[in-house]
Amino acid sequence: MSSVILMKVLESSPKRYDRGMKILFFGNLDQIYDRLISDIQKGQKVLDIGCGTGALILKAAQRGAQVKGIDINAQMLEVAKEKAEQWGLEQMTEFQEKGVSELDKEEEASYDAVTSGLCFSELSEDEIRYALRHIKRILKKDGLLLIADEVRPQNILRKIIHWLIKIPLWIVTYIGTQTSTRAVRNLPDKIKQTGFLIERMRFNSIRDFMELKARNRKDKAE
Ligand SMILES: C[S@@+](CC[C@H](N)C(=O)[O-])C[C@H]1O[C@@H](n2cnc3c(N)ncnc32)[C@H](O)[C@@H]1O
Repeated sequence: MSSVILMKVLESSPKRYDRGMKILFFGNLDQIYDRLISDIQKGQKVLDIGCGTGALILKAAQRGAQVKGIDINAQMLEVAKEKAEQWGLEQMTEFQEKGVSELDKEEEASYDAVTSGLCFSELSEDEIRYALRHIKRILKKDGLLLIADEVRPQNILRKIIHWLIKIPLWIVTYIGTQTSTRAVRNLPDKIKQTGFLIERMRFNSIRDFMELKARNRKDKAE
C-alpha cells in the first residue's frame, strides 16, 4: 500500500532500485511480472512504458520477444542497458529516453503487446488517457495491453488507512525528489472506455495492487 511513493525515492538512486523493490514487494514482484507477461511469445514486438531498470521488459526479451523500453529517467535506462548486456539480450532490446507524451511518434498497429509495470501511478489523469489512446493505436488488432500497478482502494476503511499512510510519505517523497505519485483511480474503467476488452484481472487487496490483461478490439473504424 502506497509503496508506489517509496518507489519514487528509489528511482532517485537507480543502482539501488532493484534491491529496494525486492524488499518493498517482499520478493513477489518477479512472480507478478512472470505471470503478467506469460502470454508473450517468441518473435513478438513489445513496447514497455516506463521500463525503469528493465524488470519487466527484460523478462519479455528472455521469452524471445523483440522489445523496446521507454523511460524519462536516463539513469534508470543505463541500468537496464547494462543488465541487457550482462544477460546477453542486446540483440533483443532497444531503450529510448522518452516519455508517454511521445507515444504519438510510434507507428500505428506496430506492436503485439504493450506492457507497463508501476508506471501508470506516476502519470497524471490526462497522461493516462493520452497513453491509453495511443497504446490502442499502436497495438495490432488483438494485441495485448499488460499492466501491473497500484490502484486506489474501494473499501472505505482501506481508503482511510491508505491516506493516513500516504500523506506523510507523500511529504517525505516530495522533499526528497520534488515529485510524487498517486495510485491509479478506476484503471479498468478507463481501459474499457478506450475500447479494450479486459480478459484477466487479478487484484491483491492487501497491497491494493492490480494485474490486468486487456485485448485491443479494432472492431470499428477509428
Ligand atoms: C516505479 S518505476 C517502475 C519501473 C519498472 N517498470 C519496474 O517495474 O521496475 C516507474 C518508472 O516510470 C518512469 N516514468 C514516470 N513517468 C513517465 C513518463 N511520463 N513517461 C515514461 N516513463 C515514465 C519513471 O522514470 C520510472 O522509471
